[in-house]
Amino acid sequence: MCGIVGILSKHEASPQILDALKRLEYRGYDSAGIATVNHGQLDRRRAVGKLINLSDTLVHDPLPGRVGIGHTRWATHGGPSVANAHPHQAGRVAVVHNGIIENFRALRESLTAEGAQFTSETDTETIVQLTSRFLAQGMTPVQAARATLKQLEGAFALAFLFDGEEDLIICARRGSPLCIGHGEGEMYLGSDAIALAGMTDRITYLEEGDWAILTRETVQVFDSEDQQTARPMMRIALDNAQIDKSGHKHFMAKEMAQQPAILKAAMAQYTGADASAVALPEGLDFTRVDRLLMVACGTAFYACQVAKYWFERYAGLPVELDIASEFRYRDPVLGPQNMAIFVSQSGETADTLAALRHVRGEVGQVVSVVNVPTSSIARESTFALPIHAGPEIGVASTKAFTAQLQVLALLALRAGRDRGRLTEAEYASRLDELRSVPGFVALALDREEEIRRLTEILSQARDVLFLGRGVMYPLAHEGALKLKEISYIHAEAYAAGELKHGPIALIDQDLPVIVMAPYDALFEKTISNMQEVMARQGRVLLISDAKGLAEAGDVPHALQMPTVPELIAPIVYAVPAQMIAYHTALHRGTDVDQPRNLAKSVTVE
Ligand code: AGP
Repeated sequence: MCGIVGILSKHEASPQILDALKRLEYRGYDSAGIATVNHGQLDRRRAVGKLINLSDTLVHDPLPGRVGIGHTRWATHGGPSVANAHPHQAGRVAVVHNGIIENFRALRESLTAEGAQFTSETDTETIVQLTSRFLAQGMTPVQAARATLKQLEGAFALAFLFDGEEDLIICARRGSPLCIGHGEGEMYLGSDAIALAGMTDRITYLEEGDWAILTRETVQVFDSEDQQTARPMMRIALDNAQIDKSGHKHFMAKEMAQQPAILKAAMAQYTGADASAVALPEGLDFTRVDRLLMVACGTAFYACQVAKYWFERYAGLPVELDIASEFRYRDPVLGPQNMAIFVSQSGETADTLAALRHVRGEVGQVVSVVNVPTSSIARESTFALPIHAGPEIGVASTKAFTAQLQVLALLALRAGRDRGRLTEAEYASRLDELRSVPGFVALALDREEEIRRLTEILSQARDVLFLGRGVMYPLAHEGALKLKEISYIHAEAYAAGELKHGPIALIDQDLPVIVMAPYDALFEKTISNMQEVMARQGRVLLISDAKGLAEAGDVPHALQMPTVPELIAPIVYAVPAQMIAYHTALHRGTDVDQPRNLAKSVTVE
């Protein structure tokens, strides 16, 4: 996904736009650019790679003007290059875009046939060429922008800037988030409120299909039927401490360290001071549910995989799991007694949002577990359950994962109590275990120096295997994903029992195998699988607790975790999974917070 910004300023716009883009860089960093109108003249600067390159360009080649738009790109159509960098410009109009124009090829062909000269490989350029053509036909900027929007199919958050217009930005949202910030004699727009923090906390979120005309003093919002409408302005207070590194080397390090406090806050949000019961929105009812559908992507999907064990064990609720990008293509059988739960940190992941829209009206209850309560997924759910993790900037999800697990565990226990599967005493006892999570996560975080030393065996590895059984199998997946996405080492997760059915052929002295196995009912079987690896010179790192390490005997590399109740082990063992990836990435010198090819939230399918 990409980040877009627009500013109608009382001062030079470029520095403000750069600051806003810095806050959006987690959304993509393949290229960046700014366009402004100065003394009526539309102009732009663009640079490949991270925002620092655009900043350098602007130092040597300033871009004056008090109105402007900016963009930081995650490449979809057309590789990272200056030519493909936004803003795109054609004649008297420039545009920045987040999303995908699905009919761009047909538009490009017809525009080319009419003489349009394309200079990029992007879908976005068709937008400016179309608008430019409408302007050439004599339309006003508002008419031309509106006519353009009617021709577009697909997902977009857009901002238009026009030659000669120093007090006008037109913007639109369809399928990608966009908010407007109200200043004092200034007006702003951004892909999310984080971009506008520091300029304003007065935010209006555009709804699906909305478009808007912005001047420094006014905002006119029109719905998809071109009817002028009013959208609420809300206060979204985001202080700098929430969106800077607070002294940590990386956002990921800060966000890992925040986990005990965030998990404590999540617990308090749902169980109140005495933590005696789980409070849920009125009407969210597990008693009339016959089946749960859980749908997500990436790390959020692994949180669902863990939750499947909890809902089935503690609530007797059958759970169907789906990766969001696959879900609707299997023609799932849906019914009014189903509850669909969508888990998403950003609340804007296009695959997950599309899956949610597929079930709306078909299942009884649509629940989302999100970190952004104002996000599209939250707003399109029957019940949106926030995880209260605060902005997560590091591309590799950490605190959001453990907070998702904490909230899903609370949901599973409440479902178990409501469905009579848990007695009040069992419910209270499990809640006590969940209340102990922050303390155990803090103990796990204290093993950082030991983990750093242990990961030295990984930094030269070409491939790594993660093994787990039962509820630790999803944790093996999460550990493999974390390692892949920030250290670029190929890593795979296997159910420990599955190794002997083929993958064991991979084992040799060059292949590190990380075994995640607290001392639980499956421990003995997992250790047998580990010994099969060691018998073939596999380089094992066992992550277990005191009893497990004692039982396992002599293991080349071992990490001792605190002894924790079985219910909360997946939450606590997320910490070594995160830290192994983090320190391996540090050894390898990769970009921890902004790994290559990635973006924080993927708002394209
Ligand atoms: C996790 O570390 C990844 N960055 C990625 O898999 C992420 O979990 C996935 O894209 C889903 O994002 P969401 O939670 O915002 O929907």
